[in-house]
Amino acid sequence: MSAPFVIKVGGSTIDRGEAGIEGIAALAKSGERVVVVHGGGPEATRWLEAMGIPTRFERGRRVTDERVLPVVAAVFAGLVNKRLVAALAEARVSAVGVSGVDGGLLPCRIADPELGFVGEPETPNPAVLEALLAAGFVPVVAPIGFVRAADRTELVNVNADTVAAALGAALRATEVNFLTDVEAVRGRRGEPLTALTASEARALIAEGVIAGGMIPKVEACLAAAARGVPARILHARDAARLAAGTPPGTLVLPER
Ligand SMILES: Nc1ncnc2c1ncn2[C@@H]1O[C@H](COP(=O)(O)OP(=O)(O)OP(=O)(O)O)[C@@H](O)[C@H]1O
Ligand SMILES: [Mg+2]
Repeated sequence: MSAPFVIKVGGSTIDRGEAGIEGIAALAKSGERVVVVHGGGPEATRWLEAMGIPTRFERGRRVTDERVLPVVAAVFAGLVNKRLVAALAEARVSAVGVSGVDGGLLPCRIADPELGFVGEPETPNPAVLEALLAAGFVPVVAPIGFVRAADRTELVNVNADTVAAALGAALRATEVNFLTDVEAVRGRRGEPLTALTASEARALIAEGVIAGGMIPKVEACLAAAARGVPARILHARDAARLAAGTPPGTLVLPER
């Protein structure tokens, strides 16, 4: 079985109907195997707001208490996941939505107790994805994992960038591509960076040049790159160039 592309679709772009669906569809139709991972932050924030639950982020990660967790699980694994599956179907791609709970895909441990029910992936069990790929489906993965405690299994929210990196490594992906709402990672003078090494990335994070949601994204790229999977951050509207083999954006490189 050929190595798949893992493509992370940002919540911010899904929201504006710019999720890069056409580009993902073109890649899948070109005969490549594709696994989609999605966020859905803005949609979750709106539902939380409607329910009077405040939203708080720490270093780009959503603080997930016992009131937030059921809402993000419902929004990510329900609404956002099904909308993406429907959008892919519209582009004539047979997609199947799963979460990290399905097939035991994404076992996690608690990332940091201060973040609440936020999971850090352990070794994924990609059998469910391999089965779907072998059957010709595009799996669409919602970023909800699980933590096994002594007497029960709890759902956890996992940053979608982190999920994409973990699955990219587990599937020995050809590439992990992070589709987002900016053309590239920007450097100290606001210039788009075509390549970014691990040490430069860490320096830019420490200086606050890389901030907010770009922190977990760049960290996820570093995790993938360190495991030998090329990782790229690009604008969703440039997804069409993936099938052509000429994607723009920022390529994150491991340290030599
Ligand atoms: N140095 C930087 N270069 C580019 N963007 C940056 C930088 N630092 C911070 N950002 C911000 O990171 C944002 C992208 O991350 P964000 O988490 O918002 O999007 P996403 O991951 O695509 O969506 P979601 O988290 O909902 O799945 C950009 O819109 C930008 O505001
Ligand atoms: Mg993000």
